[in-house]
Amino acid sequence: MNGNSESMDTVAVHGGERRPGPDGSVVFPIYQGTVYEVEPGTSYHDLKYIRLNSTPSQLYLHDKLAAIEGAEAAVATSSGMAAVTTILLSLMRAGDHLLASDCLYGGTHDFLTGHAADLGWSFSFVDAGRPETWEAARTERTTVFLVETITNPLMRVGRLDQVADFGRRMRIVTVIDNTFAPLLQKLVTGRDDSFSSPVERIFIATNGPMGTANPQRQGLFAAILDGHRPNNTFGGIPTIANDYSPLWNAQLYEWTADAVSKGYRSQLREEFQILTLVQDGILTGPEGKPFGDSHVIINCPPVQRLN
Ligand SMILES: Cc1ncc(COP(=O)(O)O)c(C=O)c1O
Repeated sequence: MNGNSESMDTVAVHGGERRPGPDGSVVFPIYQGTVYEVEPGTSYHDLKYIRLNSTPSQLYLHDKLAAIEGAEAAVATSSGMAAVTTILLSLMRAGDHLLASDCLYGGTHDFLTGHAADLGWSFSFVDAGRPETWEAARTERTTVFLVETITNPLMRVGRLDQVADFGRRMRIVTVIDNTFAPLLQKLVTGRDDSFSSPVERIFIATNGPMGTANPQRQGLFAAILDGHRPNNTFGGIPTIANDYSPLWNAQLYEWTADAVSKGYRSQLREEFQILTLVQDGILTGPEGKPFGDSHVIINCPPVQRLN
């Protein structure tokens, strides 16, 4: 968060701008140029070079992100996995050990289980919600503690404040991978299909059968695209564009214990089927609470809708 008195809207528009702006510009210009002169004596790391993320527009983006987050600095990468691997490769050396949440995004989990050993790293998976177990898993070479805020796709929330405290005490760098953006909570959600809404509902089972080999698979991966046919459990795509929903508003649903015991948990692929089962009391919100807006916005839009 920005620690000053400017509103988030102002920071989002003007944060990170140089004052005075180049050539008298009031709004920082976006530079389309990719090649910049090199002053004699400039070191490699001071070049304005697109692959070093150091052109004026890239630096401006970093400064803006840092201003929005109230952070010392920010670096933009081309994908989430690029960010995760870059930070780990920067912090870890051969022989180092990593504590990682046992509930991670699949790509990160695969990276650790498939490649950490090749890099000479060892790791232990720990439950980010059980601080009492962390000390036993730590070694003299533990360098990083990697967790996610709200985990993707299982949406668990660990003891993040205690992860940070533990890291400070043990001199371990805490790396928090955040795919859900809390500021997006300011968006109006919970409505359905208002004109030009950038938000669409996505229905996600929290206690459905899982696993890509399971034809009844449910949950976030299955709702989107897990290498198989996606369940496409979106509400109608918003009016603004035909096949594009910029943001999802998660509507988590849970099968009741009665529905589970009666074997009702078949795959649901259609909005009105889900809403009807909610009406019939077969589905509820998480932990039996009323079904509806789970107040989670997912900024990871589908670009394709298969019929
Ligand atoms: C928690 C988390 N980390 C990393 C990633 C990877 O991001 P990308 O698909 O941009 O590589 C994702 C993607 O959904 C994610 O949810």
